[in-house]
Amino acid sequence: MSNWTKTSWKNFPALQLPKWPDPEHHAAVMKKIAALPPLVFAGEIRSLKKDLTRAGRGEAFLLQGGDCAENFTDCTAPTVREMLKVILQMTVVLAYAGGKPVVKVGRMAGQYAKPRSSNTEIRDGVELPSYRGDMVNLPGFSPEARRPDPERVLQGYFLSACTMNILRAFTRGGYAALERVHAWNNEFVKRSPQGKSYEKLAKHIDMAIAFMRSTGLEPENIPQLNQATFYTSHEALLLNYEEAMTRNDSTSGDWYDCSAHFLWIGDRTRQLDGAHVEFFRGVKNPVGIKVGPGHDLDELVRLIDRLNPANEEGRIVLITRFGADKIADFLPGLTTRIKREGSHVVWSCDPMHGNTYTSKSGLKTRNFDRIMDEIRSFFEIHWNTGTVPGGVHFEMTGMNVTECTGGGQKITDQGLLENYDTSCDPRLNAEQSLELAFLIAEMLR
Ligand code: PEP
Ligand code: CO
Repeated sequence: MSNWTKTSWKNFPALQLPKWPDPEHHAAVMKKIAALPPLVFAGEIRSLKKDLTRAGRGEAFLLQGGDCAENFTDCTAPTVREMLKVILQMTVVLAYAGGKPVVKVGRMAGQYAKPRSSNTEIRDGVELPSYRGDMVNLPGFSPEARRPDPERVLQGYFLSACTMNILRAFTRGGYAALERVHAWNNEFVKRSPQGKSYEKLAKHIDMAIAFMRSTGLEPENIPQLNQATFYTSHEALLLNYEEAMTRNDSTSGDWYDCSAHFLWIGDRTRQLDGAHVEFFRGVKNPVGIKVGPGHDLDELVRLIDRLNPANEEGRIVLITRFGADKIADFLPGLTTRIKREGSHVVWSCDPMHGNTYTSKSGLKTRNFDRIMDEIRSFFEIHWNTGTVPGGVHFEMTGMNVTECTGGGQKITDQGLLENYDTSCDPRLNAEQSLELAFLIAEMLR
């Protein structure tokens, strides 16, 4: 890797980084973080790469989901558990009805920094720095709240560790055992049509497990039935933090960003000669690249080559986010070109970020049918080009929120006001997420 060090990104223009008012304080905190233990282990990252290799070949399906922005106050056992429950439910639906193993990746345990369209926000003639996620500042509109505070990065590290710890406990300690498949169905989802379909499916799984037991096999002792493999991810935005979390793996001699298993570069920071791309060139984690309508095909091809010069499978996930009305204009050209180049990528669909609009009630929202339209087009376009629709990327929550319109509950513009709780983009609620899983499972079949 020519001329790369974990600090070489500093020689390139870095977009979307906060202006820390006290750079010395910030540097001291980064030094502290660099001495703290990694949040994930390089061996786990290598397992993810293998799983993604399978997704790229169509032998598995990637399900990535979670909050647009996690909040520090959401680091509680119930919040983490509810998110995990829906992801496990969706996994069962996709794996059982869709017939493929599911690679589960949470936008969790560190999704605390956000890119913004403007550096500042003006309200009633007052201009303050934009809110950039809990790891930087606070959403309240006052100079104190909006002042970037490096102590928040440290706090974010510790809260990521707490989230990671409870995730490991839930997924390894029996909570994710397939025998508990019924317990993942939420009370408020149970009565819905998809809740009922889920119950039916869960009964089939029960019967299969009972049958296995009758043959003398003990599900408790079979890790595949008793545990879940769950990976974490976030947008790698705060490069100083990512650098501090980057460690040399003694078994391979390679560099890994141990803040999460999977990291992605946002649509706003993927410039070929930018700092974010330079940083990712040298770490071995699988990396996502968000691709929106503003991309340039030649530049994207060079970007993939720069990040994956050996064309390894499982290294690059292209997360397309065009919007239901634009995907047909952009994705066919993109899939055709990447196929012609022979680049190995995992194709994933983010049907959220291209479908955001402001409702009549003034709230930012997304419509269930548009989300589903984009996913359907995603599958059809890939089938047409002979490329593999390898996964999906959702902003979702296990809570019973009203942030996206439509779906089985037929949430209206007015209905959004009932329980609109996100601190960033609107998320699918548990019922809408499960409904999507059933619709996607049909296509996987
Ligand atoms: C996001 O995933 O929350 C995000 C900001 O996405 P994008 O970079 O695609 O706009
Ligand atoms: Co978002």
